[in-house]
Amino acid sequence: MSKSMHFRDVVRERHSVRNFHPQPVPEDILRSVLEDAQRSPSNCNTQPWQTHIVSGSKRDALSKAILAADDAGQLTPDFSFGINDFPGVYRERYSAQGAAYYQAIGVKREDYDQRRDASRRNLEFFGAPHVALLFMPEVGDNVRVAGDIGMYAQTLLLSLTAHGLGGVPQTMLGFYGDTIRKELDIDPSLKLLFGISFGYPDREHPANKYRINKAPISESVIFMVVFIILCHFSKIFKNRNDT
Ligand SMILES: Cc1cc2nc3c(=O)[nH]c(=O)nc-3n(C[C@H](O)[C@H](O)[C@H](O)COP(=O)(O)O)c2cc1C
Repeated sequence: MSKSMHFRDVVRERHSVRNFHPQPVPEDILRSVLEDAQRSPSNCNTQPWQTHIVSGSKRDALSKAILAADDAGQLTPDFSFGINDFPGVYRERYSAQGAAYYQAIGVKREDYDQRRDASRRNLEFFGAPHVALLFMPEVGDNVRVAGDIGMYAQTLLLSLTAHGLGGVPQTMLGFYGDTIRKELDIDPSLKLLFGISFGYPDREHPANKYRINKAPISESVIFMVVFIILCHFSKIFKNRNDT
């Protein structure tokens, strides 16, 4: 996989990678990915992302601290997140994704310990040599800034793919905001939206062999053409009747 991949291929090749080879990404490639992400659009060009890339011994220490916080039940999310927040089809997709992942890695849904172990792989960055932590300043109700961070994250993920790398966005890392800020000496005014573990995908690992279904565009897109045409014709008829 290289930078010369077509856009359509990059978009279709990208998927959440949940097992990595340990070798680090060379610095020039890492910088190239970050330069790509920096081109992302944002509200009024505010570019509100504050990205911390954690690697090497810092990465190991961070994972250890997060696992310890999890053991101690010290969850300190900056933003709430829960399955019960999602209504209808969104909740169905949420559950289907979990079921597909557990099936792919051979975890039984009813086996709590196995599921917990699988979930804690998030806190080990799925074995990735790097994690990008996406912090943001608090602005208003935070929704606009969070949208900008999403734009940035997707550009970063697509660039990783185009470079033959892979990544997984992780809201779960955001559940340990205080621990991460303390470990990395980050100002409390910066809020952690999510992280992205990344590196070279272990393509043979079962976690990376399944692909989740995407809904057809008819479930997400409404074409207003018919409506516009109807408006157009009703105007013509009205004009005729008026003259
Ligand atoms: C903002 C965001 C947060 C996510 N958080 C997690 C996470 O904490 N753990 C995880 O394993 N996957 C996480 N994912 C990955 C999603 O499960 C994945 O994107 C979705 O199932 C679609 O699969 P795909 O990325 O392979 O297309 C997250 C994705 C996004 C966009």
